[in-house]
Amino acid sequence: MDGNGRWANRRGLERTEGHSAGEENLARVVRAAVARDIGWLTVFGFSTENWIRPRAEVRHILGLHEKLFGRVAELNENNVRIRWIGRPFDAPEARTPRYVQRAIRRAIADTAENTGMVLTVAFDYGGRAELMDAVRAARADDGQVTPEGIQRHLYDPDLPPVDVLVRTSGERRVSNFMLWQSAGAAIHFADAPWPDYSPADLDAAIALVR
Ligand code: IPE
Ligand code: MG
Repeated sequence: MDGNGRWANRRGLERTEGHSAGEENLARVVRAAVARDIGWLTVFGFSTENWIRPRAEVRHILGLHEKLFGRVAELNENNVRIRWIGRPFDAPEARTPRYVQRAIRRAIADTAENTGMVLTVAFDYGGRAELMDAVRAARADDGQVTPEGIQRHLYDPDLPPVDVLVRTSGERRVSNFMLWQSAGAAIHFADAPWPDYSPADLDAAIALVR
């Protein structure tokens, strides 16, 4: 969900306001995705590299994740099951505060019965970290490393291969997102910064594969 900062800058607002607008827009995009019968939507909320941002900005983004995982009533109304991928909370380098951990656990439990779209939020997530963790776990479990072993030890092994990868805010490069799962994916480039990413942009992305 890239471009919150640029969106805010262009309006003469604080970066934090861009993040707030981005969180609001996620709710709109989730509704649009549900209306379009999308089965799986996975969004990059916060990366393993984002912790070095200014403290106040990180604190604001953490609060927004608490808010986002707190939208349980809305998720239930839309029959959406929420999940999370990221570094395990007990990993040595993990820094996710308890209140965010709690919000994540509660949202997963309180939407587990829903049967519609699966919304997965990547938080404290890095594609390379995920692969390193999966390779280590596969070797420990199986004594060897195979593609099946790696797949089985991803943060969420149930996530299907990515059909379309969306880059927002005019970025035309791959990021550290779902490196294993997105092999072979179509890529849709949207110029809109994330707070402006629209249902029409989503339609254009879907058109690449439907
Ligand atoms: C994405 O917006 C939000 C997070 C990475 C948490 P950015 O903060 O990266 O916005 P830009 O790239 O500076 O515009
Ligand atoms: Mg960015």
